[in-house]
Amino acid sequence: MIEQAILQFDRALRTVFAPAYSVRPVPGHDLPEAALDETERRHVAGLMRVDHCGEICAQALYQGQALTSRDPSIREALVHASDEETEHLAWTEQRIAELGGRKSLLNPLWYGGSLAIGLVAGCCGERWNLGFLAETERQVEAHLEGHLAALPSEDGKSRAIIAQMKQDEIGHAETAVRLGAHELPAAVKRLMKLASNVMTRTAYRL
Ligand SMILES: [Fe+2]
Ligand SMILES: [Fe+2]
Repeated sequence: MIEQAILQFDRALRTVFAPAYSVRPVPGHDLPEAALDETERRHVAGLMRVDHCGEICAQALYQGQALTSRDPSIREALVHASDEETEHLAWTEQRIAELGGRKSLLNPLWYGGSLAIGLVAGCCGERWNLGFLAETERQVEAHLEGHLAALPSEDGKSRAIIAQMKQDEIGHAETAVRLGAHELPAAVKRLMKLASNVMTRTAYRL
């Protein structure tokens, strides 16, 4: 029990403070850097900070899922998605650095909050937990679609990262559905949208 707690705490610290690692090459790594003016560069760095923050939350949600799931086959099936989330973390982190931006100062708070939500969802039972994961992934996908529209068309590097992440999130939602995710009530989905709106608006600035 104590060993588990230490392991999880270590993982949380590494997620928030240590650089993430990607097995796949960063999407768009071979594309040229676009000539963005200062306003555009700040805007893109802000968008990437929001997306990085979303990936911090994804780490916590998947961690919460793994901690509460009693079904080893489900835990196993979600490892791939969870690994891809770590890659998303690495890609957005690198892009923020390239743009001269910084990560959200509130990352520890986002992580802690998401872990708490993940644990609560986990306590509602396997299928509701998966339903929560599936809905999160769908909302992230829609959000990334919005960011693709908001990114300057000439910034191929940022666009390639977001496009690949969006593709991966679709796969994650499908995995959760395939594993037996329940469809969440509309009121819960609205509440989740509201919470993510607060996060995205705050992370753009902080
Ligand atoms: Fe992700
Ligand atoms: Fe995902």
